[in-house]
Amino acid sequence: MKCVELVGGEKVPALGLGTWKMGVGDADETAQIRALQAGIAQGMTLIDTAEMYGDGRSEQLVAKAIAGAGQRDKIFLVSKVLPQNASRQGTVKACEASLKRLKTDVLDLYLLHWRGSHRLADTFAAFEALKAAGKIRHYGVSNFDVDDLEELSAEVPNNSCAANQVMYNLSDRGIEWDLYSKCRKEKMAVMAYCPLGQGRLLNNPGLAPLAKKHNVTNAAIALVFTLRLPGIISIPKSSHEKRILENAAAADLVLDAEDLKNLDQIFPPPRGKISLAIT
Ligand SMILES: NC(=O)c1ccc[n+]([C@@H]2O[C@H](COP(=O)([O-])OP(=O)(O)OC[C@H]3O[C@@H](n4cnc5c(N)ncnc54)[C@H](OP(=O)(O)O)[C@@H]3O)[C@@H](O)[C@H]2O)c1
Repeated sequence: MKCVELVGGEKVPALGLGTWKMGVGDADETAQIRALQAGIAQGMTLIDTAEMYGDGRSEQLVAKAIAGAGQRDKIFLVSKVLPQNASRQGTVKACEASLKRLKTDVLDLYLLHWRGSHRLADTFAAFEALKAAGKIRHYGVSNFDVDDLEELSAEVPNNSCAANQVMYNLSDRGIEWDLYSKCRKEKMAVMAYCPLGQGRLLNNPGLAPLAKKHNVTNAAIALVFTLRLPGIISIPKSSHEKRILENAAAADLVLDAEDLKNLDQIFPPPRGKISLAIT
């Protein structure tokens, strides 16, 4: 499995597992747990969840998927605090509730889900306190554009923000203009969310010839595109074991210059600043 190095040198898998909309409604929980476990077995040991997802039910499902002797130690577990909870005290409270739902003592990465009205200095003071208490190992942000990162540096100088989780896929390439290089410069990993365009990308006929050439699915082509640049972690979500196995194939795939040229023609790179896409 291709890896991404975080600030401080720790390596995490470049292909992980998203969990938005999992554990909710009348979904088949057993099948979803099996799907996540299949991904883990393929080396997709980074799991992304959030207190927001199903009001905590996604975190509870993840807890079940990683239960069992020695399992938790294999996983790089990511969760997120909602902006409305991200005050100095609220962040700590939200993290403790996530830990409880995830049945773990420590999160590997804790993100501010998006910017809200609480001062970044307060949220980051809470992140530092959680880190000092051993409740989180790294912290970071999500949905931060270049101007947000500049404000963060001004408001919280010398922070050790480890990642910025943003929308990135073949149809949403805006970060290639400036945000990607800004994150690289600030030693933040970029976590690509919606790497399959929430599934919408997969019907694009432009992907099929490449999928055929590499003997993989359209999904694997879309995913390996997000992984082609250094420092990017991609977190596709599927509730189906078969699809997760298809997605895992992206980890060993390499696109050549001609493949990338073909993709650029169908999905052109940005020609100027595009505000960060948010779902
Ligand atoms: N930080 C943020 O603000 C933010 C926002 C959005 C998402 N996220 C994170 O990023 C993760 C990924 O984003 P996402 O879930 O919105 O979208 P996504 O991963 O781009 O796409 C998920 C959709 O694609 C389908 N799918 C997955 N693999 C497939 C395959 N091989 N063949 C056909 N269909 C496939 C899934 O259906 P099935 O499940 O039915 O297979 C699901 O409908 C989320 O789960 C979440 O963890 C973060």
